[in-house]
Parts: sequence; C-alpha cells; structure tokens
Amino acid sequence: GECGACAVGVFRQVGPDREKTLRVGVITYTQDDPFINGLTDELKAQLKAMENKERRIIVSIKSGNDDQQEQNEKVEEMIDAGCDVLCINLVDRTAPSRIIRMARNEDIPVIFFNREPVREDLMQWEKLYYVGCDAEQSGIMQGEIAAEYINSHPEVDKNKDGKIQYVLLEGEAGHQDAISRTEYSVKTLMKKDVILEKLSYQLADWNRGQAENRMNRLISQYGKKIELVMSNNDEMALGAVEAIGSRKIVVVGFDATDDAQAAVKAGKMAATVAQKPDLMGATAVETAQKILNGETVDKEIPVEVELITK
Ligand code: GAL
Ligand code: CA
Repeated sequence: GECGACAVGVFRQVGPDREKTLRVGVITYTQDDPFINGLTDELKAQLKAMENKERRIIVSIKSGNDDQQEQNEKVEEMIDAGCDVLCINLVDRTAPSRIIRMARNEDIPVIFFNREPVREDLMQWEKLYYVGCDAEQSGIMQGEIAAEYINSHPEVDKNKDGKIQYVLLEGEAGHQDAISRTEYSVKTLMKKDVILEKLSYQLADWNRGQAENRMNRLISQYGKKIELVMSNNDEMALGAVEAIGSRKIVVVGFDATDDAQAAVKAGKMAATVAQKPDLMGATAVETAQKILNGETVDKEIPVEVELITK
C-alpha cells in the first residue's frame, strides 16, 4: 500500500505512464563489499543507458545487511512499491525460498547474481535465472595463472625443497565461489606439476581487514616457511599483502578490482583473475530485457573470466 511506496520512495506510478516505466529492484547481500559495489554501479549505469523517450528506467538499490531476514523484508517492500524485475545477490544462497514465493505471487521475474542458488531452487519456478561466472572454471583459471607464475619463478621455492608451502584464504563457508576456487585452484596447481605443501586454510569473509589479521597470525606461526598465498578474492589478497610487507611471499587473488590491478602492477601481487562486472551488468540487463519481451532465456547464464598479470 501507500506506506510500502513511501518506505522505498520510488517505483509506484499509476495511470497511463505506468507502461512506459521499467522498475528494477536490486538487492545485494551487504553494502561493504567493494566487488559487489562495483558490480551494482555497472548494473545501474547499463540500465540507465537503456533509457529513452519511450521508456523511463528506475533503479532502486538496497542491501540485505548480511541478514537474510532483512533482505527478505527489503524485497517485500520493493514488491509492494511496484517492481517489474528483481536482481538479487542473496545473503544466504541456500535460502531463497521466501523471495521466490513472494516474486512468484506477483509474477515478477528474478535474476539472481553472484551468489548462486542451488539447482533445485532455480527450478522452483520458470522465471528464475542466474547470472554469474562459472565457479569451477574460475578456480581452474586461478590455478593456471598461479602455476604459470611459480613455474617461471623458481625463487618462489625459498627453501628449495621442491615444494611450495602455501596458505589459502577462503571467502566464506558454503559460497559456491569460495568452494570451487579453493578446490579447483589447488587441483589445477597440482596438475601443472606444482608440488604443494598445505600449511593452513583460513576463512576471512571476503574481507581485507580480517585477512590481514589472519595473515599476521599465520606469519607469526609459520614465519619464513610461507611461500605462497592463494586467496579466494582480491580484498583478502590485499589484506595479506598488507601483513606481508617486505617479506618475500607470492600472493594470487581473484576479481581484478582496481586496487588489485594496481598491486599486480607494483609487484605486490603476482596475479589475479578478472570477473568482469561490466560484462555481468550487461548480461543481467540483456537477460532482463529478453525476459520482459517474453523470449526464452537459459536459467543459468555464465559470464567469462580473464587472467591478469603484470
Ligand atoms: C565473489 C567475489 C568476492 C565477493 C563475493 C561476494 O564472486 O569474488 O570478492 O564479492 O563474490 O559474494
Ligand atoms: Ca619450498
């Protein structure tokens, strides 16, 4: 009703102009994730670029503040205020049912992005889609770039024992990107003849500050022994770089954020893999357009990744 519209402050439009307006609701898992913020900026820019005389486009961006319950409520508000398509970056990728039910009741298609619902949930209704990079492929690419660096830089093996002593920084338990980047980067390194010795795996919530803390602890525990840090994302890789200072430890990240690209150029990180937020934004927009035009769209739409080195 009126209040829902007031709460969101956008969207509701009645009368003849209603048809001319496309209202897109974007809801992220948090507002404190630089990669996600870059992605939503792209999404918004690309949606705005589609605006023309015939059609106004209103984009509303909200965050779930790391709380699935709160995200559900924000979705409800957006639906109440009137919304034609939802783009959702779930807080808990295993708990989309309530959002699916609400969207379905109002016949509003949902494009999930970055945090992938499980297949069974995506199959709950025909108007559910996922846009994101292929997590397994991403892990393989990260392993390949790390192997290439190690195989061409023999000095990485500081103690010359023929093995690479490594630590791994993980995003969060249960996230498809964290699980697959961990598993497939390590498998790929081994496949490319890098002999690994695992020292420790640490969860750091995709977060720079937490990773810096973890890395400080790892350095006091293992000292010079650490030769390689594999990180599920760039923010954590940059936290590790901070803790490492002038020590000789190779760091490999993921995302190719601006800060990480600068760190690669400066020689503080060996490499990263680009998840392309611009391409993801464009893909989501294109997908939304097709859905609204009644075209058939695949449920899972992968977006390519790319290797970044100096
Ligand atoms: C990953 C990304 C991380 C973080 C996470 C949030 O794909 O690499 O940096 O943004 O998504 O779900
Ligand atoms: Ca070694």
